[in-house]
Amino acid sequence: MKQKLQERDKLFKKTICYILINPIKAKQLSKEVRYMKKFGKKLMSIVLGATMVFGLMTGCGSNDAQANQGSGAAASGEVQVGIVLPTKDEPRWLQDQKQFETILGDAGFTNQVLFSQGSSATEKTNVETLISKGIDVLIICAQDGAAAAAAVEEAKDAGVTVIAYDRLITGTDAVDYYVTFDSFAVGQAQGQYLIDNAPSGSDIPLYLYAGAATDNNAFIFFEGAWSVLQPKIADGTFVVANSSEAEALSDKAELTREEIGNIIGQITTDWDFNVAKSKAEANLTAASADLKGDVLVLAPNDGTARSIADVFASDKDVTSYVVTGQDSEKASVQYIIDGKQSMTVFKDTRTLAADSVAMAVDILGGKTPATDTTYNNEKIDVPAKQTSIVVVTQDNVMAALIDSGYYDASEFTGLQ
Ligand code: BGC
Repeated sequence: MKQKLQERDKLFKKTICYILINPIKAKQLSKEVRYMKKFGKKLMSIVLGATMVFGLMTGCGSNDAQANQGSGAAASGEVQVGIVLPTKDEPRWLQDQKQFETILGDAGFTNQVLFSQGSSATEKTNVETLISKGIDVLIICAQDGAAAAAAVEEAKDAGVTVIAYDRLITGTDAVDYYVTFDSFAVGQAQGQYLIDNAPSGSDIPLYLYAGAATDNNAFIFFEGAWSVLQPKIADGTFVVANSSEAEALSDKAELTREEIGNIIGQITTDWDFNVAKSKAEANLTAASADLKGDVLVLAPNDGTARSIADVFASDKDVTSYVVTGQDSEKASVQYIIDGKQSMTVFKDTRTLAADSVAMAVDILGGKTPATDTTYNNEKIDVPAKQTSIVVVTQDNVMAALIDSGYYDASEFTGLQ
């Protein structure tokens, strides 16, 4: 059996080489690999039970820290579950990394987390690296949902089960499962917060910002926010300050993907703090006096919210601002305590990572994982497991984030 597995690994490596130099030969080989993987899976499910029990009994995982990119690879080089995350530069994804390493390590799985650092090319190389290490399950949060299709197709051809994590991969049938937060509810909660905390009167300036157009979530977040904000724009309570596209569509309750794309084209932050900062500065420089005073700001996530909030706070003609966020990043929780950011959305990465790991366990054990909905990725309906979200403000920081054990009170100042 060991020999068969070694043979399979050799075939993997050969296939990768052929992908680079001879795609036809690669296809033939990948068929053989798939057959051998099936064989390997049977063996894996027997070994898995014993490994998990042992791992849990001893309380120690088989993951070793690895320098640089990620961590958690088995000392032998064989990896069962590969995880690819978009970037180390946003605290959000470090939270996810921590959860994966804890949960997979405790369960006794060999695993490795690699970061794409904002590059689809690096992401593809990361997937290929993990395939060459013999992974059976790939958990991937795509840098660019469309570009990642090629990488996951390669994984699928090598017999790997693909779980899209948090961000959907579009335009391919090579995604087996999707584990996500309720992203529509995130946008809806942000929009509703602005409505509930708006000053009284009409023509209240509303500044709109969105995530990266390459991220399917950016569309869903905006769609959720628009579902509640649109009636307030249409009836003149709010006036859009920085998007002619949104203004032109203010009578439309439901937007097409193309229409949302046009709006995002004007208000995107690319999920980048610096882009968010310069866009906010440019918007305020261009804004007339009637678009200042008491204003509302739809900021898509915490990193961009802090940048945008700093810009609005330093404009002497902005009297007050209400600004949204999401992710409950530590820095934003401190901003909320200090009254510099109005709200965030708590997306409990412990649950999302645990859900993906539970899926991986089922897959490795030859079972079909439980799902509760589907998401269409422009090619297929991907079976999905969805997790709900919690709105966090000054009033419930303690209950939502400290009492739940997500953060320690000592990590903040001024917490009541
Ligand atoms: C995630 C957010 C995150 C953003 C930027 C989105 O896909 O759902 O939680 O803030 O990407 O990384």
